[in-house]
Amino acid sequence: MKHTTELTVRDDFTIDQPLHLYTETDHEVWRSLYARQTALLEGRACDEYLAGLHHLDMGHERVPVFEELNQKLMAATGWRIVAVTGLVPDAVFFEHLANRRFPVTWWVRAPEEMDYLQEPDCFHDVFGHVPLLINPVFADYMQAYGEGGMKAEHLHVLPMLARLYWYTVEFGLIQTDNGLRIYGAGIVSSKTESIYALESEVPNRIGFDLTRILRTEYKIDDVQKTYFVIDDFDKLMSDTRQDFTQMYLNLDGLSTFKPTDILAQDRVINKGVTP
Ligand code: PHE
Ligand code: FE
Repeated sequence: MKHTTELTVRDDFTIDQPLHLYTETDHEVWRSLYARQTALLEGRACDEYLAGLHHLDMGHERVPVFEELNQKLMAATGWRIVAVTGLVPDAVFFEHLANRRFPVTWWVRAPEEMDYLQEPDCFHDVFGHVPLLINPVFADYMQAYGEGGMKAEHLHVLPMLARLYWYTVEFGLIQTDNGLRIYGAGIVSSKTESIYALESEVPNRIGFDLTRILRTEYKIDDVQKTYFVIDDFDKLMSDTRQDFTQMYLNLDGLSTFKPTDILAQDRVINKGVTP
């Protein structure tokens, strides 16, 4: 994380986007990441993501001005982005989502981190997450997730709900008439993974299954071993609309699944190559 001593951080962890702190290097990094990913995503990202990217029309030459993105975002779905200095506490994050505010890291990764980054930066947060917030169904899903997060925190079952975020919002795939496509932010913002997630023989690709996902561990330091595939965003929304409270109680204490596991019940779209 960049040093942020001169920034005033509010109680809700937001700051004003410090436009004066971006260097020419930051803009260059943004420019090359943007060019690289948009070239890769044609034919790989789902139509909803690409439509959002097109609609936002965020500058590809320089780091976007968040307030300018907010004009379009607010008009489309009532969402807006708020600048933060890095990861925020879970409760704060959920509160923002529940109020249709998406926290985005203001700073841009260093040039030597083009391919791999330990924590989310501005490119991941903005390029990865914001385009789908233009989609009305996905916009509702993210708000519902924020509300669900607050509840899960009270029930002390956050690790379960976090798996759903991981396997949908960050690393989700979607089935389309033209084949599998990407919608997860962790994939669309990564060169390696936007190719690997669709084209590699290594990972499993399994049909979306809510209770299964709530029990499935994930890896944060490598490309995924399993991707879950949704049919469409309406179905994702209807599958997750129910109150999870009873499900949490039923799942409490049950064993978890490893990222590589394939279960008898799985709707297997592609069985990965076992390492
Ligand atoms: N319906 C879920 C609950 O009751 C909340 C949720 C909605 C979670 C959408 C994720 C996505 O907890
Ligand atoms: Fe993310």
